[in-house]
Amino acid sequence: MATTPQEPQNGQVNRRKLLSFAGIGSLLALAGGVVYKHFSATSAVKVESFMTSGSGRKKNILVLTGSGRKQGNSDLLAEAFVKGALEASHNVKVFHSGREPMQACRHCGGCWSRGKPCVIDDSFEKLFPWLEQAELLVFCSPLYWYNFSGHIKCAMDRMYPYSQKNRLRDMQVRETMLLMCGQSHFLRSFAGPAEAYRQMIGYKHWNDRGRLFVTGVDEYGEIVKDKALVTAEEMGRNA
Ligand SMILES: Cc1cc2nc3c(=O)[nH]c(=O)nc-3n(C[C@H](O)[C@H](O)[C@H](O)COP(=O)(O)O)c2cc1C
Repeated sequence: MATTPQEPQNGQVNRRKLLSFAGIGSLLALAGGVVYKHFSATSAVKVESFMTSGSGRKKNILVLTGSGRKQGNSDLLAEAFVKGALEASHNVKVFHSGREPMQACRHCGGCWSRGKPCVIDDSFEKLFPWLEQAELLVFCSPLYWYNFSGHIKCAMDRMYPYSQKNRLRDMQVRETMLLMCGQSHFLRSFAGPAEAYRQMIGYKHWNDRGRLFVTGVDEYGEIVKDKALVTAEEMGRNA
């Protein structure tokens, strides 16, 4: 005797409908995976930069890095820059603010009270003589929460004594560069620190010699994928 399919009772689930929904769902998930893989594989590292020509004069350069990761992406940027700068016979020093104890400025008003810029005894003791010699200061930071890393920001804030009227000495910095990298694929993610940098150098009357932003890098060494390091090296050579 032929059987007729039973209509589901109230609250009962139709197995056939459920299976076809599951089938469509799996197909969509599969397609989504393929599309995601396609885009993540094709979204290349992007590099945006500009630099102005150097005078050719040898100068003292200080590179201030901002990551705690040794050989991370911004470290590799800094290294490439230094390689170029040394090739052009500049004197180069590198201070890794992410790997040295560097407290935040306390705004305690103690600047110069002990004959030196700051009363806090930490790695700023090593940094400040370099700041007083450097003619070109290069900030090299990863993007943290759409901003400079906290490490490099602490080091920047500790330069506050050099903006005080009662300063006993000054920095020799006349020019600056900004090198940054981040995971974001959008250049606009760097807008915050780029604007802070612009205002800072305007306030200090420093001359902006170049900027380099690298998007789409997160894992160790990802920055080698594109021309970022070549550009950083060229910026160093041209410093
Ligand atoms: C605390 C923290 C915050 C971050 N915030 C951002 C961010 O806002 N935007 C972004 O694109 N990447 C962000 N990143 C990713 C780093 O910028 C990215 O991994 C970068 O390549 C790290 O550089 P490094 O290897 O030199 O440390 C963040 C990473 C950390 C650890």
